[in-house]
Amino acid sequence: MSDRVIIFDTTLRDGEQSPGASMNTAEKLRLAIQMEKLGVDVLEAGFPAASEGDFESVSQIAGKIRNMEVAALCRAAKSDIDKAWGAVQQAVKPRIHTFIATSDIHMKYKLNMDRDQVVTAAVEAVRYARSLTDNVEFSAEDGSRSDRDFLCRVFEAAITAGATTVNLPDTVGYAVPDEFADLVRYVMAHTPNMGQAVLSVHCHNDLGLATANTIAAITAGARQAEVTINGIGERAGNTSLEEVVMALHTRRNILPMTTGIRTNLIYPTSRLVSMITGIMVQPNKAIVGANAFAHEAGIHQDGVLKNPMTYEIMSPETVGISANRLVLGKHSGRHALRSHLKEMGYDLSDDELNIVFTKFKELADKKKTLVDEDLEVIVTEGILRSADTFKMEYLHVTAGTTVLPMASVKMGINGRSIIGAGYGNGPIDATFNTIAKLTGTASELLRFSISALTDGTDAQGEVTVRLRENGLVALGKGADPDIITASAKAYVNGLNRLEYLKTHPSNTREMV
Ligand code: KIV
Ligand code: ZN
Repeated sequence: MSDRVIIFDTTLRDGEQSPGASMNTAEKLRLAIQMEKLGVDVLEAGFPAASEGDFESVSQIAGKIRNMEVAALCRAAKSDIDKAWGAVQQAVKPRIHTFIATSDIHMKYKLNMDRDQVVTAAVEAVRYARSLTDNVEFSAEDGSRSDRDFLCRVFEAAITAGATTVNLPDTVGYAVPDEFADLVRYVMAHTPNMGQAVLSVHCHNDLGLATANTIAAITAGARQAEVTINGIGERAGNTSLEEVVMALHTRRNILPMTTGIRTNLIYPTSRLVSMITGIMVQPNKAIVGANAFAHEAGIHQDGVLKNPMTYEIMSPETVGISANRLVLGKHSGRHALRSHLKEMGYDLSDDELNIVFTKFKELADKKKTLVDEDLEVIVTEGILRSADTFKMEYLHVTAGTTVLPMASVKMGINGRSIIGAGYGNGPIDATFNTIAKLTGTASELLRFSISALTDGTDAQGEVTVRLRENGLVALGKGADPDIITASAKAYVNGLNRLEYLKTHPSNTREMV
């Protein structure tokens, strides 16, 4: 058996099912390019039948990516498969990923189908997909709660119909590692033609066991891991890419399997996903959390200074966290900026570079040195969000111990500028009230959080807001050395994401 584990990333599909994490096409394309650089083998770009927006982003990604396989998800139905193929067919290496539920509870209550009908639907879907491409993945949704022998029967039929990968999901995050590994071994031993397909696993983190279950499954013989960056995804999320990859990398003495991931790009990719989706990484998150390599206890600090391996099982540099990052300052020229952005994965047109360069100079006037995180913010805010409905053109705030907090704001709304002023409980409240009045939003602010983007007192404040309007939830993110401006940017970004959701309705969550 091969010792190479195929990394299948579903940040753009299952990851996007995290509440509030919707991404626009430009953002998805940017992430796809980063995933390719990271060394992901298969990228699940979306669920084309779910919405026009999903169709559009899958086709754009399929048209751009050259080396990585691009997969499109679809239910086991001809019309869904046609949509998936329509979107993904121009990829150099396309994959159709079709699924149907196989657990008794899903078949009875969700599908209203019996076992024979499910086998027939799976076979027809795979056969049809196989008539379009020779790269077909079949998933048995809620596989971990399915009858074992029925699961083997479905997999055998799917492989006979042409599936080249069969995926065993722990859809509701119910499995525990020994049990899941045992299921993988059972399926491998009792599916007669399993040798003709790759066995994949796809775990959710409802019990915090997604990574453990994935590693257990790999140990038992699975050779594709379905994962997301930062573990984002439906409910408690999916297996996190960085945890699986670094577990295999760090413990290769007992887990002798490899991946194609360039581990030094893990941290920049994690930052990018957080920046684009607005979902912050918890500080104690393994591998990519702010505290993952921070040693607080004196005895630990002393040990690490003497020999890092006393308390560090991997070095921060291995995952791309470097103490000596290249920094740019206000004297850096356009050429240095362009080539550094290129290294970061941004191949900008001349017009885009002009926008970024102007913003770079503005920020460099306020902040001595700019590191990758700062540049990431400039590009995300300046380029990837260019199709926004609302733009903040001007903000002036007065606040203090003896004055009523007041904000004056000029907003560009669909190309028209309007000005307004308002007050509030504090400067942020005053700013949000004024923006709300100007944009006429009916949204409610569910959450507001702020942290420093980098070290130092001149660091940019990074703000995340969560907004809700008529059942739609959107996250907004903004950064600026001035925390009131950062808050306003995050709020406006959240409002723009709500607008995007209104015009790009996606019923993915109801479908999967
Ligand atoms: O969790 C799940 O079962 C899925 C499938 C569509 C693979 O996301
Ligand atoms: Zn899933």
